[in-house]
Amino acid sequence: MQDEPLKTLEVEIERILPGGVGLAHADGQTIFVSLAAPGDVVRIQIDRTRGKVAFASIIEIIKPAPARVEPPCPYFGRCGGCDFQQLDYQAQLKAKVEIIRDCLHRIANFELPAEFKIQPSPNQWHYRARANWQVDPETRELGYFERGSRRVCDVAECAVLVPELQGTLEELRAHLGNGSFPAGARNIEAVAGDEGLSLAPGWAGFQTKHVSRKLGDYTYHFSADIFFQINQELIGPLIANAIGDARGTVAIDLYCGAGLFTVPLTARFEKVIGVESNPLAAKFALRNLQSAKLSNARIHTAPVGIWLNDQSTQSAPVDFVLLDPPRAGAETTVIKGILALQPRHISYVSCDPATLARDLKKLLAGGYSLEAVNAFDMFPQTHHVETVVHLGLAVAS
Ligand SMILES: C[S@@+](CC[C@H](N)C(=O)[O-])C[C@H]1O[C@@H](n2cnc3c(N)ncnc32)[C@H](O)[C@@H]1O
Repeated sequence: MQDEPLKTLEVEIERILPGGVGLAHADGQTIFVSLAAPGDVVRIQIDRTRGKVAFASIIEIIKPAPARVEPPCPYFGRCGGCDFQQLDYQAQLKAKVEIIRDCLHRIANFELPAEFKIQPSPNQWHYRARANWQVDPETRELGYFERGSRRVCDVAECAVLVPELQGTLEELRAHLGNGSFPAGARNIEAVAGDEGLSLAPGWAGFQTKHVSRKLGDYTYHFSADIFFQINQELIGPLIANAIGDARGTVAIDLYCGAGLFTVPLTARFEKVIGVESNPLAAKFALRNLQSAKLSNARIHTAPVGIWLNDQSTQSAPVDFVLLDPPRAGAETTVIKGILALQPRHISYVSCDPATLARDLKKLLAGGYSLEAVNAFDMFPQTHHVETVVHLGLAVAS
């Protein structure tokens, strides 16, 4: 029996959607096209369909969009890491603005001003100070998962890694080649600091250790096992924007990690509370407060939803709540808990515009008004974007 030939179509890419895919329409279907540029005329292959929505990949570029560039990375398309290398940098920034605009409009019913801009990354390549490498001990492949698969894409050189991590990738490859790689290690987390790097799991010459990074007035300690922002050039502007000119009596930093925002908040508020579920990250947050000689903050090691639930009887007014949840956004209980606290100001730092918009909708319905939106290109060559939203408690008339 012969395989049925895959359906191919010629389409024009209209724009880039949240998730980073190109939008096209044909044959009564809405089509999401991977690795596209807005304005491309392409022949696509439909990979799968769900109702009137189809998911497709490009098999021929008939007329490239003006913004299309030749992706410099030889693994582009196969490696699951970057999905925007086909766009020149201005087009990447424009696409991210449109992604934020689309989510805020469609989900939160909020219109971004026409002149809204994203802060570009000073480095468009070699900016990534954290990596999560995958290992296949049988094939001795080391790199990242392939797009849409759990197969390891063997990557000898990664164009977005900082040079220190590229060097480590090469050293690890040598260990894998000569059999001195730890048995059973399938996944290696690595993070670069100002002086060396931390690896998890660690072994022999690659002990898991902590590293530090000086950012403005403070030195942060962290390790590969915990979250830390990856684009060191933009962390300072991100902190400055998320905190703004906030000052006051009580501030709460939810999902505080190693205290990136907790430390500068503690210098500005009389009392600060950080909440973080990862005990190791919470330990680093405490250590970072100590090394900044700040004693007016407490760190609670707990899931934010549970911690907030326990605050329902708290009566002390809260001036400022900062939240920086993972990509999934804040759980319903967290939004309810924040609304119950009625902070005067909320600063929401988000790495996913869709979950941000979902949560904003609830905060806006709960009596807050949106005061400012800013975006930072923390992740060039990918569709990912960091957004900071400031909300104020609307005064009852
Ligand atoms: C995006 S990171 C932000 C960390 C920190 N604000 C920073 O910028 O370095 C999210 C943090 O939330 C923590 N986390 C995830 N789910 C959580 C939960 N339900 N409760 C508390 N912390 C959580 C993670 O361990 C991680 O440290």
